[in-house]
Amino acid sequence: MEKSMRTIEWKDSYSVGHAGMDQQHKKLVSLLNEFSQALSRGEGKTKLYETLMGLVEYTKKHFKDEEELMASSGFPDLDEHKAIHKQLTNKVINYAVQYNAGELTNTVELLNFLKNWLVDHIQGVDIKYGQYLAKS
Ligand code: FEO
Repeated sequence: MEKSMRTIEWKDSYSVGHAGMDQQHKKLVSLLNEFSQALSRGEGKTKLYETLMGLVEYTKKHFKDEEELMASSGFPDLDEHKAIHKQLTNKVINYAVQYNAGELTNTVELLNFLKNWLVDHIQGVDIKYGQYLAKS
C-alpha cells in the first residue's frame, strides 16, 4: 500500500509522441521511484543521497539530449525550454545539497516536489515540442 502511494506509474498520457524521449522519461520515473522506495525502506542517508544524485545525473543527460533534439528539429521555443531546464536542474541540485547537509528533513516535501516537477514538466512543457514534431 505504502509503496504504491509513493511511486508513479507511467501513463500513456505522459507520452510526448517521441519514442526516444518517452524512453528517457520512463527511466526518470523509474529513478524517481527508486528514490521513493529507498525512502520507504528507511535506507541510510548515504544511499539516499546516491540515489538522488543518480536521478540528478540522468536528468542532466536527458535535458541535454532533449535540447539537442529540439535544436535539430528547429523547435522555435528552444530558449524558453532550456531556461526552464536550467531552473529545474538548479532546484533539484539545491535540494540534493540541502539534503546532504542535513538541512532538509522533510523528505515528503522533496518527493512531492520531484513528482510534480517530472509529471508537470512532461505534460505541460515537453508536450509542446512533441506537438511540434508531430506537425513537422
Ligand atoms: Fe523531458 Fe524538458 O524534459
